[in-house]
Amino acid sequence: MKTHIFPDYPQLCQRVAKNVIDCVNAKPHALICIAGGDTPLGVFAALVEAQKQGRVDFSRTQFLGLDEWLGLGKDDKGSCREMVWQHFFDKLTLRGEQICFFDGLTANPQAECQRVDRYIEQHGPIDCIVLGIGMNGHIGFNEPGASLDNTCHVVDLDSVTQAVSVKYFDTPREVKQGISLGLKTILAAKNIVVMASGENKAAIVAQTVNHPASTDIPSTLMKTAQQANLYLDEVAASAL
Ligand code: PGA
Repeated sequence: MKTHIFPDYPQLCQRVAKNVIDCVNAKPHALICIAGGDTPLGVFAALVEAQKQGRVDFSRTQFLGLDEWLGLGKDDKGSCREMVWQHFFDKLTLRGEQICFFDGLTANPQAECQRVDRYIEQHGPIDCIVLGIGMNGHIGFNEPGASLDNTCHVVDLDSVTQAVSVKYFDTPREVKQGISLGLKTILAAKNIVVMASGENKAAIVAQTVNHPASTDIPSTLMKTAQQANLYLDEVAASAL
């Protein structure tokens, strides 16, 4: 996994967006997965702008959700669904059949995992995936200790993830479980983009780079992928 450092967040996002644009321009019906969370927000904006300017056309692209909090849906501010639709899907005016996203309100999470796994079997492997890094090194909701054999699965969230989650919600939420693509599916992606921004990610970024690949820190496992790049702004890279 090669590390690339950019002076600031906007330049980092432009570069990550370019990866997605290049992928879609080479393969218009590509399967793209972009994480929710704060890190990719600037990438969403850059991609919306690129479509407006005619530099990319997402009308045939397939989009896959990375993860979701179990118990939260589109009307819950801070759910992955709410964030990704608000900042990205609604602005691209996609058709429903272009999107496969976990339903956090499902009454049957196992069936929901199977539904998304079937979708990936039909449309995958993922052509390009854009990932953030959790404060504990999680990737999606693949928490420390996650199995490399996992496809879509239900996760008991790590205490760090539960503590960090408050930043997304405007009212207090008890989020104990998530639903996520597994490491097996993520590592099978043809092009993996891991991105991190800001001072609070500097320590986990340094661990990701310096620690041998291990399920203890799932972000280190991205180093074992054939095609993976780590994109950072200078502040996130400050402990390297
Ligand atoms: P963040 O989340 O982008 O909101 O920092 C990253 C993650 O938990 O994967």
